[in-house]
Amino acid sequence: MAKVISFVSVKGGVGKTTISLEIAICLANEFNKRVLLIDGNISAPNIALYLDLTHKNSLQDLLKGESFQRTVYESYNVDVVPAALEHYDQTDIFRLRRIIEKVKNKYDFIIIDSSPHYSEMIPIVAASEMIFIVTTPDKITLTTSLKAARLAKSQGTPIEGIIINRVKNVPYEVSCEEVEWASSLPVLAKIPEEKKITECIFYKQPLIIKEPRSKAAEEIRNLAQAFSGEEKKTNWFLRKILKNKEAFMRREQVNREILRRKFMI
Ligand SMILES: Nc1ncnc2c1ncn2[C@@H]1O[C@H](COP(=O)(O)OP(=O)(O)O)[C@@H](O)[C@H]1O
Ligand SMILES: [Mg+2]
Repeated sequence: MAKVISFVSVKGGVGKTTISLEIAICLANEFNKRVLLIDGNISAPNIALYLDLTHKNSLQDLLKGESFQRTVYESYNVDVVPAALEHYDQTDIFRLRRIIEKVKNKYDFIIIDSSPHYSEMIPIVAASEMIFIVTTPDKITLTTSLKAARLAKSQGTPIEGIIINRVKNVPYEVSCEEVEWASSLPVLAKIPEEKKITECIFYKQPLIIKEPRSKAAEEIRNLAQAFSGEEKKTNWFLRKILKNKEAFMRREQVNREILRRKFMI
């Protein structure tokens, strides 16, 4: 039965779509999971553009009663429900929850990319079982991102943690500790600023496929690993010397290990 998760923030441009897409593709291709990715950003859909999908049907059609089979498109071993590029009418996105219930048994993960707008985010939060907040490491974005956390709380959906994206490791950035202190949430990943992402967008290829050894791809993989519930393979010698491995782990690694245990079957 699928776990329904979404990456949210009330600010645009923090990396929600990038993270939803890269995690989905990583889980499908490197962890052999059955993944459905839904573009829940009705007003500014991006998933189809990132994946260069040509699609006739969309999430809006699905919400209006079109069959699931006719609105799902495969890309990099992930089933994708794109949103219509032309936002042609008002759609009842609150129906999403019921639709998800019907297809949940086909997948291990259902990932919903979210809009930064409150009105579109509420139904996505309501349809999700777990929420992950996305922020960049600056005070203004963090403050705004925490609004999304409050919104998720008001809907009763558990917030599992926070992801810091576009980390440049410069002195004026908000640190991992400061993010945890301000949000009372565990930091689960620190995804570095990655120049190659622009090139990936140009070639319409995901980072995890085109540049799998880049630092950002490595951190996305670390997060996907926690979602997969699988233990990271370390060799026998390392396991022996790192018996008390928590003592050597960075904060976000410890947090991911706690999260991974929640995803273990
Ligand atoms: N780690 C990163 N390094 C560099 N660029 C990034 C990174 N994450 C996202 N971006 C870029 O930032 C822009 C906004 O990302 P996107 O995922 O569309 O944000 P959102 O969905 O939150 O609006 C895109 O051009 C994307 O390629
Ligand atoms: Mg987006």
